[in-house]
Amino acid sequence: MKRVAYIDQKIHKFNKKIYVPGDKSLSIRFILMASQAIGKSVAYNILKSGDVLSALIAIKKLGINYKINNKKCEIFGMGLNGFKFKNNTIIDAGNSGTLARLIFGLLIDARNSILLKGDKSLSKRDFYRVIKPMKMFGQTIKSKNNFLPIKIKGTEYPRPIDFLETKGSAQVKSCILLSAMKTPGITKIKCIPSRDHTERLFKYLKLPIKIKKEKNFEIISFNGKKNYKGFNYIIPGDISSSSFFIVLALLSKNSKILIKNVNINKSRTGIIDILKKMKAKISFKNIQNYKGEKVADIFAQSTDKLKSIDCPINMNSRSIDEFLLIFLVASKAKGISKFKKIEELRYKETDRLMFGNNLLNKIGIKTKLTRDSLEIYGNPNLNLKSTYEIKKFDKDHRACMVSFIAALTLGGKWKIHDIDSIKTSFPNFITLLKQMGAKIN
Ligand code: S3P
Repeated sequence: MKRVAYIDQKIHKFNKKIYVPGDKSLSIRFILMASQAIGKSVAYNILKSGDVLSALIAIKKLGINYKINNKKCEIFGMGLNGFKFKNNTIIDAGNSGTLARLIFGLLIDARNSILLKGDKSLSKRDFYRVIKPMKMFGQTIKSKNNFLPIKIKGTEYPRPIDFLETKGSAQVKSCILLSAMKTPGITKIKCIPSRDHTERLFKYLKLPIKIKKEKNFEIISFNGKKNYKGFNYIIPGDISSSSFFIVLALLSKNSKILIKNVNINKSRTGIIDILKKMKAKISFKNIQNYKGEKVADIFAQSTDKLKSIDCPINMNSRSIDEFLLIFLVASKAKGISKFKKIEELRYKETDRLMFGNNLLNKIGIKTKLTRDSLEIYGNPNLNLKSTYEIKKFDKDHRACMVSFIAALTLGGKWKIHDIDSIKTSFPNFITLLKQMGAKIN
């Protein structure tokens, strides 16, 4: 794949029906959960991207076999104690924070030691958030300042824990749940709500999970350790990938898009609620339930009536991966948009708060940035004429893709670097854009 893309014209009006690839969070969870099941599990429409491939290679290193072709992905689980691997086995999580943090949980009973490593961007991200609970369970962990590479050794006698999670991080919550799955006794997590795919999968597999909702928190309790059988799963489209096309339609004149068969789990649809509050025209059609998740077609169309938003902080976790797109929409909305308590964006594949702020300033939008907030002075007449170069974003796939959407909707001449980063989550992103009429060189 080429590393640089050039865009020097907006996308022409379109009216399209598309499919986006399978959901990344669900694909990785499927692989990890199937690795602990007894017998064969099968997933259809699994995402075939860098992060998901890293997950498959990781379970293979731990002694779990898999087969993958264009139609399906089969995993041959060996039950809760089924990992077999040599001392000092290396697991490379690549760019995937989700894989690295979730697999940590599965290594609670690792009999031999593992070296968990990742790429340059992942090696700059904080792991204390999972090291802390995993030490409480009884894992032995050696690291330099809580960054990858980290040496992990499990325990024969894991202890259930009570943990308070205050970041609203689904990765931390899921790491603890996966460890609790292999730990006899009741583990309790009091946490700020975040994406809940792991909990829904547990319920579907009839694992003993209980969830109590309180005002700003949830109390989750799980009684481990219970084996379960292999299962089948059809992975729906990824709302995070869909969001690039929703915003493309919103910001392109006279355009419409229908995105088929997307996961619309409430813990993921913050972007839809935020954009609707900003007067975007978006609707769900054909809503269906599937194994505890909701799936629908998403319809979106362009509008020039966008209004600013004072974004409620309880939307933050529900739209955590979509803020760059939301910032872009805010730059075309009338008025000043305000986003608060979003410091977590600084700890993603790149510092997305800084990247978003710099991108907006580059295109002439005034902002006010603090450690954990951003104000955006929108300009509904924004129409670019200059040249823009996007580089130095730690190869963050979402930073890269949002630059394409900016280029195709705002005008100007763009040079975007490190486009191979996109294969982390959405390998056919550029092909799909071209099919919709985008001119990209
Ligand atoms: C994810 C959780 C989120 C999100 C990431 C995927 C998951 O991370 O940003 O892309 O699948 O659990 P945090 O838990 O760090 O918020």
